Amino acid sequence: MHVHVYERFWMRLMAVALAAFFAAVLYAAYGMGIHLPDAHAEHARPAWGPVDPDWPGVTRVAPGRYEVRLLALSWGFMPHEIRVPAGSEVTFLVRSQDVTHGLFIQGTTVNAMVIPGEVTRATYRFAKPGVYPFWCHEYCGIGHHVMSGRIVVTEAEAGQR
Ligand code: CUA
Repeated sequence: MHVHVYERFWMRLMAVALAAFFAAVLYAAYGMGIHLPDAHAEHARPAWGPVDPDWPGVTRVAPGRYEVRLLALSWGFMPHEIRVPAGSEVTFLVRSQDVTHGLFIQGTTVNAMVIPGEVTRATYRFAKPGVYPFWCHEYCGIGHHVMSGRIVVTEAEAGQR
C-alpha cells in the first residue's frame, strides 16, 4: 500500500508522541508513585474517627433559618435528602469522613470542596420551591458518580418557616 511521504511522517510522529505520553503515565505511576485517591489507603483513613451520630442533621436555628450538618463519605451524603420551606436561608456545614469530596448544588451558588479535617461552610437562600439535586464534583473513587442527594424546597405555609 502506498502511503504519502508526509502521511508517513505524521503517522510516525504520532506513534512517537503516543509512546512518549504512555511512558510519562508509567513514570508518574511507578517512578513518582502518583495514584488516584483510594478510600482504603492508609493516608485516607477517617479524618474524624467513626461516624459521629450527632453530626449529620438539619436544625432550625431561627424562623426561616436552617443549619444543615452534612457528612460526605465514600460514596454518599448524610443526610441525602433535606427538606426546607421556600424562603429559607440554609447554612451548610460539611465534613468529610474520609477523602476529599465536593459539594455542588444545582441551581444555587453552592460549589465547594470538602477536605478531610476541615469544615466547609456555605449559605444559600432557597427562594423558590422545587427539587435541588446536589452531588460530589470531586473524583473520590470508584463510587464517585453515585454520590448525590437532593434538597426539597416545599411551598412555604404561613407561619411555617
Ligand atoms: Cu465524593 Cu466524588
